[in-house]
Amino acid sequence: MKIIDPQELQLQPFQLLDQTWALLVAGVERPNPMTVSWGGFGTLWNKPMVTLYVRPTRHTFHLLNQHSECSLNFLPEQHRQALNLCGSRSGRDIDKWEKSGLHPLASETIAVPRVQEAFLSFECRVLAWQDFDPSRFLQKTIEKNYPNQDYHRIYWSEALAVWLAE
Ligand SMILES: Cc1cc2nc3c(=O)[nH]c(=O)nc-3n(C[C@H](O)[C@H](O)[C@H](O)COP(=O)(O)O)c2cc1C
Repeated sequence: MKIIDPQELQLQPFQLLDQTWALLVAGVERPNPMTVSWGGFGTLWNKPMVTLYVRPTRHTFHLLNQHSECSLNFLPEQHRQALNLCGSRSGRDIDKWEKSGLHPLASETIAVPRVQEAFLSFECRVLAWQDFDPSRFLQKTIEKNYPNQDYHRIYWSEALAVWLAE
């Protein structure tokens, strides 16, 4: 893996999040990997940004609010089972590193680790957050995503380092 200039990164952003999925790691004392497939990449405040959406029911939500750094990690297909585990079990109940066989790896710019098995990782610092306000949903069908009214918190995060497999 090597750190690259975000400007050089070539992605299929829709395919990557929707199909490949990713592991969002949050927490310093007991970092926890959670599977995500909703998010985005772009530019805000002249910075390369990663946008994440986390429901308040997730353990990750509390970890992110305690410490405003995280890593976003994309893994090869052979780790699909690990991604399923990290997307169905909570770090409140189990150690997902131990159960998935994945390994945390020290980051360069943040206190939260990235994932050793990843082919692409972002080290991120959260710069702002906001909760979805359902009164602003302009399509009724969006509400179907929230039978329990656990509206996502949106985290706008600066990509401090981008790691890509060589
Ligand atoms: C493919 C996939 C994508 C997911 N994407 C998200 C997401 O973007 N945001 C979210 O809050 N939960 C998402 N989840 C659900 C969490 O990964 C799941 O609830 C997890 O068990 C929460 O872990 P935690 O309690 O350790 O944080 C996704 C799950 C899967 C399987």
